[in-house]
Amino acid sequence: MRLTLFSSLLFAGTALSALPAHAAGELNLICAADVVICEQMTADFQKSHDIKVNMVRMSSGEAYAKIRAEARNPKTDVWWAGTGDPHLQAASENLTAEYKSPMLNELQDWAKKQAESAGYKTVGVYAGALGWGYNTDIFKSKGFKEPKCWADLLAPELKGEIQIANPNSSGTAYTALASLVQIMGEEKAFDYLKKLNANVSQYTKSGSAPVKAAARGETALGIVFMHDAVAQAAEGFPVKSVAPCEGTGYEIGSMSIVKGAQNMENAKIWYDWALTAPVQSRMKDAKSFQLPSNKSAEIPKEAPKFEDIKLIDYDFKTYGEPAKRKALLERWDKEIGAVAN
Ligand code: F6P
Repeated sequence: MRLTLFSSLLFAGTALSALPAHAAGELNLICAADVVICEQMTADFQKSHDIKVNMVRMSSGEAYAKIRAEARNPKTDVWWAGTGDPHLQAASENLTAEYKSPMLNELQDWAKKQAESAGYKTVGVYAGALGWGYNTDIFKSKGFKEPKCWADLLAPELKGEIQIANPNSSGTAYTALASLVQIMGEEKAFDYLKKLNANVSQYTKSGSAPVKAAARGETALGIVFMHDAVAQAAEGFPVKSVAPCEGTGYEIGSMSIVKGAQNMENAKIWYDWALTAPVQSRMKDAKSFQLPSNKSAEIPKEAPKFEDIKLIDYDFKTYGEPAKRKALLERWDKEIGAVAN
């Protein structure tokens, strides 16, 4: 009897350890978008799949740092959302896995191009243009001029009235840094950032925090993706979003599977699911107003219209390269971060 029990326990143990990892029904997910959409996606996926999702929310740069730190022993399976540059950097450092989703043909060209340029180690899930949101009540009561252009943000009256994130942790702020470098050239962009620093009260960790602060009257203006400013207006706050007159950059929010993921099959199930039209059409219910990458997904009526925005031809390849990103961040740390208020 003892022997039987022992051997059946032994058998059970052997059988369990012989099962493929995905049979445990888990998925370890980094979600690098707003917490509300992260929770909605997680709940929706769990409703339609017998897979438990362990989700952690992070900003784009933090997500990249975690994937990099875990490279020899990956704990994360999928990295969904966040700006494309760190996803491209991870792809070129071979931290993410090549995967050609059967959904690729349903995607907009910009999303497919993102995948092709990274050897299918990432893919575009949404797009969003950079700009800012300002609190119209504060601007009115303090008599500030409407800020339409990047140049307007240097007005001395705006001293201490602006917030933007730190580009090391935030993909939004890295997009701002890389966009200004592309619009002005690197020297002029850093001159501009030094002058802007005089007006910045805080460099936040998360990219959308500055406009959330503006919505609540804690600051007058937040440099953010325009859809994050629109989300605050949709919540009923007195926030107006602006597309800068000189032109601006944009993100291709992306998704990658981690190389050596422990739950590889489940990672692919999430990946294909997240690229479907119904899933992307649901994003607006969490007040996520980016442009979806699936051609058949519903474009939220609140989504900033790309045709009305002066967009630069953002060079994703160059600014997603490890050496470029590292050099720009190091220079920012030295010239801006070190002297920040
Ligand atoms: O809030 C949503 C969002 O702006 C996404 O569109 C974007 O990919 C992400 O946040 C960037 O966040 P962060 O700047 O914190 O990396």
